[in-house]
Parts: sequence; C-alpha cells; structure tokens
Amino acid sequence: MNANLVLNLLALTVVLAVSFHVNALSPHYYDQTCPQADHIVTNAVKKAMSNDKTVPAALLRMHFHDCFVRGCDGSVLLDSKGKNKAEKDGPPNISLHAFYVIDNAKKALEEQCPGIVSCADIVSLAARDAVALSGGPTWAVPKGRKDGRISKAIETRQLPAPTFNISQLRQSFGQRGLSMHDLVVLSGGHTLGFAHCSSFQNRLHNFNTQKQVDPTLNPSFAASLRGVCPAHNKVKNAGAVLDGSTTSFDNVYYKMLMQGKSLFSSDQALLTSPSTMNLVAKYANSNEEYERAFVKSMIKMSSILGNGNEVRLNCRKVR
Ligand code: HEM
Ligand SMILES: *[C@@H]1O[C@H](CO)[C@@H](O)[C@H](O)[C@H]1NC(C)=O
Ligand SMILES: *[C@@H]1O[C@H](CO)[C@@H](O)[C@H](O)[C@H]1NC(C)=O
Repeated sequence: MNANLVLNLLALTVVLAVSFHVNALSPHYYDQTCPQADHIVTNAVKKAMSNDKTVPAALLRMHFHDCFVRGCDGSVLLDSKGKNKAEKDGPPNISLHAFYVIDNAKKALEEQCPGIVSCADIVSLAARDAVALSGGPTWAVPKGRKDGRISKAIETRQLPAPTFNISQLRQSFGQRGLSMHDLVVLSGGHTLGFAHCSSFQNRLHNFNTQKQVDPTLNPSFAASLRGVCPAHNKVKNAGAVLDGSTTSFDNVYYKMLMQGKSLFSSDQALLTSPSTMNLVAKYANSNEEYERAFVKSMIKMSSILGNGNEVRLNCRKVR
C-alpha cells in the first residue's frame, strides 16, 4: 500500500516533469541536438543586413506579428495555399518582408541539424540578432517553440491597429499576458524601420470634426509629414522613418515621442495615461534602463505559447 503510493507519486512527478519540460522554453534547448543553431541564424541575419539596411526592422516586426497571432508558432511564415489565404497576405502586411532571411537560415540549419530547429525559434533568434546587430542589447533566447500548421489572413485582425487608443492597446496586450509596462517598452521597437503614409494618414488629414491635423503632433513635424503624405497620396511607397535614427536601436523613439514626433496614434496614446507617460519619460532619459527593460519584455512576448506541434523542414509549408 505504502510502496504503491510512493510509486504512484513518483510516476505522477515524472509525468508532471515531462509535461512541464515540453512546454518550457530554454536557452539550452538545442545544446545537445544543434549547438550551432544560434550562430547559424546570426550569420544569415548578418549577411542579409550587409546588403539591405531594412532587414533588422523587418525581422523585429515579423516576430511581433508572429507572436500576436496564435502565439509564437511561425504561422506568419506560411505561404497561402489553395483557397487558404495566409497571415502574410492579410491586411496589415505592408512592410512585412525579409522572409528570405528566415529561409536562408533554415536551409543552413537543415544542412547541419536536419529536422531539429523550429521556424518559430528561427524568427525569435533573428529578431534578437536584428536588435543586437543594430546597436541594441543582446540576450539568450529561450527556445523550443514548435511550428503551427494554421495561418489565416483573417486572423491578422487580431493585431493592434496604429489608430488604437490606450484602452484598446491595454486590452490587446493584456489578452496575451503582457502588461502596460510591456506595452510601453515594446512600442520602443519603433526605434527601427519605416511606415507607409496609410499607417498615420489619420493624424494628418480630417483628424476630427474640429481639426485637420492631430494637435498633439509637433506643428513643423506634421507639416513635413503632410508634404510626404498629401491627402490623396498617389505615391505607392511614400512614408516616413519611425524615428530619427532608423537603423540604430536606441531610445530616440521615446525622446521624439515626448516632442510630438511620433508617427502613429498608438504611439501618442502612450502619453495619455499618467503611468505610461511616466515610463516614456523614464526611457527617454535612460537608454540603459530602456535596454534592460526591452530584453525582459521581449522574452515575455517571445514566450507567448502557440499550439504548434511540429518542426517544419521548409518554413513556408507545413509538413
Ligand atoms: C503597440 C502596438 C503596435 C502597433 C499598433 C504597431 C503598428 C505598426 C505599424 C502600422 C507599422 C508600419 C507599417 C507600415 O506602414 O509599413 C509598424 C512598423 C513597425 N513595427 Fe510596430 N506596432 C506595434 C507594436 C510593435 C512591437 C511590439 C514591435 C516589436 C517589438 C514593433 C516593431 C515594428 C517595427 C520594427 C516596424 C518597422 C517595420 C519595417 O520597417 O519593416 N511594433 N508598426
Ligand atoms: C501582402 O498581401 C498581398 C495581397 O494579398 C500580397 O500580394 C503580398 O505578396 C503580401 N506581402 C508579403 C510580404 O507577403
Ligand atoms: C478607445 O476607443 C474605444 C473604441 O472606439 C472607445 O470605446 C473608448 O472609449 C476609447 N477609450 C479612450 C480612453 O479613449
């Protein structure tokens, strides 16, 4: 009887430990099976960056989009197939690009350790490298994500829109286990990259019934944006950089935000509640504190669990 109880408890412990292990990400996940995984991804990112300065921003945004739809499961990478329109062909896909960098990394990984490293982990590693190689902080990426088999364009509606106010942003992040602090810190990802006029047009023309232009925008900044993005903009790729130092990862985003020089209503929204406003001021004042916080929040975002159950061989197709 007693021995049985002990055995049962032992069995239960093993089951719990195993199932916990299955769900838990770890920086050491590939230590035995593919110790060179990080290195291979870093090389692919470096190589792409040397030819194209827009790669880091693309990789960082790709990770955000992946994690916010179905968890970080590589669903953003799947190509549309037959009647199924995939996430990457969904509405806010403008400026999602650089998928070839993930393909190159995957190809090199399949040569070294076939069938081992998930596409979702590659995206997470590539986002870390994008930040680090742009002068930002680096960190040990927890790994062990599995790739999902479902990607639906219609589900990109679940992504926050650039017109969101602070309560909509709180809800969007909160649903994914992310706090208001994470919201402020991760919005700092807008230190890299570019936005098309359509993403901030709402602040420049017909803002509301009283004002043409969002009065929280710095007037000369608004005037220059209106120059690039007229009311009936016909230039296909017109737009603006997200902060004054678009290829370097730093806290300039927060400094510009405080001067009324942010692009999206969702950026400006961070100044509409006292607690988030205080955080913006804090990170505008200290790049060091910002980098520390960014690492923590990125690890949190990149740990949003998906329902994936396989390791793809080609990141664009399910097995
Ligand atoms: C808070 C909610 C967010 C909203 C509403 C938002 C919205 C947007 C929009 C509309 C664009 C421009 C798309 C275009 O016009 O081409 C953009 C670009 C970008 N976003 Fe966000 N974003 C958010 C959060 C994040 C997060 C959490 C990250 C990463 C940590 C991120 C990283 C980026 C980057 C790097 C770009 C530039 C992409 C490029 O140049 O290729 N964003 N975002
Ligand atoms: C975005 O969606 C459009 C329309 O479905 C598609 O033609 C385009 O290739 C997509 N962009 C990317 C980067 O996948
Ligand atoms: C944010 O927008 C939603 C939807 O339009 C609205 O119901 C809500 O009152 C707004 N909240 C704030 C704080 O403006």
